[in-house]
Amino acid sequence: MTPFPAGLNRTWLPVCLSRELTAKPLSRQLAGVPLVLFRDAKGAAAALEDRCPHRNYPLSDGKVVDGAIRCPYHGWRFDGSGGCIEIPGTSEAVNAERLGARRIELVERHGAVFVRLEPDPQQPDLVLPPLLGDPDHDHFWWSQPPWKARALDALENILDPFHTNFVHDGLIRVSGKRQAVRQTVIQHADGVEVVYEQDEPDRGWMSRLLEGDRQRSVGRYYPPVTFQGRWEKKDSLTLCATAFFVPETQDRFRGFGCWTTPKGRAPAWLKRQAIMAFVRPVAVQDRRALERQYATIAAFGGPRFKSGPTDRVTTPLTRLYQGEALEPSVDGPNTIWL
Ligand code: FES
Ligand SMILES: [Fe+2]
Repeated sequence: MTPFPAGLNRTWLPVCLSRELTAKPLSRQLAGVPLVLFRDAKGAAAALEDRCPHRNYPLSDGKVVDGAIRCPYHGWRFDGSGGCIEIPGTSEAVNAERLGARRIELVERHGAVFVRLEPDPQQPDLVLPPLLGDPDHDHFWWSQPPWKARALDALENILDPFHTNFVHDGLIRVSGKRQAVRQTVIQHADGVEVVYEQDEPDRGWMSRLLEGDRQRSVGRYYPPVTFQGRWEKKDSLTLCATAFFVPETQDRFRGFGCWTTPKGRAPAWLKRQAIMAFVRPVAVQDRRALERQYATIAAFGGPRFKSGPTDRVTTPLTRLYQGEALEPSVDGPNTIWL
């Protein structure tokens, strides 16, 4: 019901984490296209369209045999490049390419498996937001089962601080006691960045626990479906989160998050546990909010939004999502109350 964002098919997007992918076929969907992923005999990740080219049985129902996926209907077998390498019941030569399944471009990097549905001659390589996978930092990934909501609303949610006093009351901020925060919205041709500066830390207990003496945070939208947030103290990073809201269909997305922290005294596993203790309840709250919102949008046959003075990010976000380039500008700092 809501169009996919512009350029989605030409964008590298995560579809699973490396640790989720084994020799067992994994079924995924990206922008309405069913995919099957598996590891070949050498452990290399492969992605094919999840449709047997013979009679269109889903390959993800099959099994990987000697590194090639076997369709359970008539037993045709396809290697990681999609080539048909076996047709049971005939001794005639098989034209691997003509009878092959459609291969999907794939790159496995920094613990996640990225695919792209269409090539982009302008941008052949996978380009990720800064810090993601940087060897001087600790990282961990987290993924979620799909949420029944629109990726655009999830992007707006993660860029929007005003819901935190309500939806995350007590965790991130509190509803009863607000404080002044300076918000600056910076438009770039290919993204929008929102900077928050404040003299006191947020009052939610998780914010206090995790962020230390944070003074500044920056959220940036990388079209079409990626967000990166950085929380900074005086001259250094305390936390960074990169989130991908990957549309499976027009009304369902799968979220992937990578958390990045500077290497330091605390071991990576401990930081992971501390961060997850915070992220899990926040995600439960956001999921509920987004699914309630989507159910209402669906009941009325589509969204009809009115934006107020707290929605400064909505217009640049929506324009970028639709594939427009923005004229560079700076709006702020404006004082808001969070
Ligand atoms: S449908 Fe797959 S082998 Fe026939
Ligand atoms: Fe939220």
